[in-house]
Amino acid sequence: SIMGLKDYYQDYFPVGVAVYPEALEGEQSKLIINEFNSMTPENVMKMGPIHPEPNTYYWKDADKIVAFARKNNMKLRGHALCWHQQTPDWLFTDSLGNTIGKKALLKRLKEHIYTVVKRYKGDIYAWDVVNEAVADDSTKIFRESEWYQISGEEFVAKAFQYAHEADPNAKLFYNDYNIVRPEKRRRLYKFLKKLIDNEVPIDGVGIQGHWSIFEPTENELRQAIDSYSSLGLKVQITELDVSIYPWEKNVREKREGEKDDYTPELKKRQTDQYEMFFRVFRDYKNTLTGVTFWNISDQYSWLDTYPVPGRKNYPLLFDQNLQRKQAYEKVVDFYKKN
Ligand code: G3I
Repeated sequence: SIMGLKDYYQDYFPVGVAVYPEALEGEQSKLIINEFNSMTPENVMKMGPIHPEPNTYYWKDADKIVAFARKNNMKLRGHALCWHQQTPDWLFTDSLGNTIGKKALLKRLKEHIYTVVKRYKGDIYAWDVVNEAVADDSTKIFRESEWYQISGEEFVAKAFQYAHEADPNAKLFYNDYNIVRPEKRRRLYKFLKKLIDNEVPIDGVGIQGHWSIFEPTENELRQAIDSYSSLGLKVQITELDVSIYPWEKNVREKREGEKDDYTPELKKRQTDQYEMFFRVFRDYKNTLTGVTFWNISDQYSWLDTYPVPGRKNYPLLFDQNLQRKQAYEKVVDFYKKN
């Protein structure tokens, strides 16, 4: 077989990819095996999909990914134990439809985390324990999610405690987006410092890395990694992609007749951005313990449909025919020059 990303980066960090079960067959599975040595389930281990009813777990899809990882000797990150999206309908209410209290919610959280984490003990080496709990609004620290409204900030520490009890060997991460932006970075720093001061068992920060050709700058990226690692935390890039549109464009409906061409100029800017990111990542090889892409190729990206459908994006290193893009060549160029 030919060298893949995982081989070029073997002296640096594992290179991962977010997957859905259908990708583990056919051409995509060959690409996954050749290029990556780590995986993250894109959706199937989230609470809604894996725990659809109070006493019912749906393991099939998650088990398929675990089996594939084992068979191909790949690392596996678990995603995500506690999040405000993709929660099951029953989670926050009792049988009469009334919102439950804090004690009952933490009990459900514990039962969920114990069951899922124990099942995959030894297979999953790192978990995104709490995902996106920090507010977008700069005047607050905590997002006003149902988790927060019912339990206050306690659910965060509890989630880490339960995960640690369920698998003391798993590396436990807090995972979030836009946390390389200086303003949110400073709020997250305070949030993390408090957890550490309270001896919450947290090992690392997942910087999602949903970036674009416009952001972040090299300085912002370095400052964020420096800031989080100064707390003694490991850092991973957990959901990397480089959108060719600014987020403001992504979120608005496509206008009549609007063209979204992937022009040579956009390709070039994206390539430069990827080249810079990986140059920085290599500089931080002692701090970064993983870099994971969010989706496999431009054939399918969550950005094609989210938050509005119909605008094709091209955010990854492989094109719609699963071929390596020019950005790929730049990301591995350092190896050839050595
Ligand atoms: O499975 C159902 C299907 O049965 C239904 O017919 C269809 C109609 O809407 O929806 C399908 O579920 C979709 C699911 O993806 C699986 O494809 C959901 O609507 C859709 O909302 C969901 O989107 C996921 C999104 O998280 C949810 O917010 C994306 O695939 C997934 O890539 C994305 O991942 C998140 C990370 O977990 C956390 N960080 C941000 C990242 C990107 O948003």
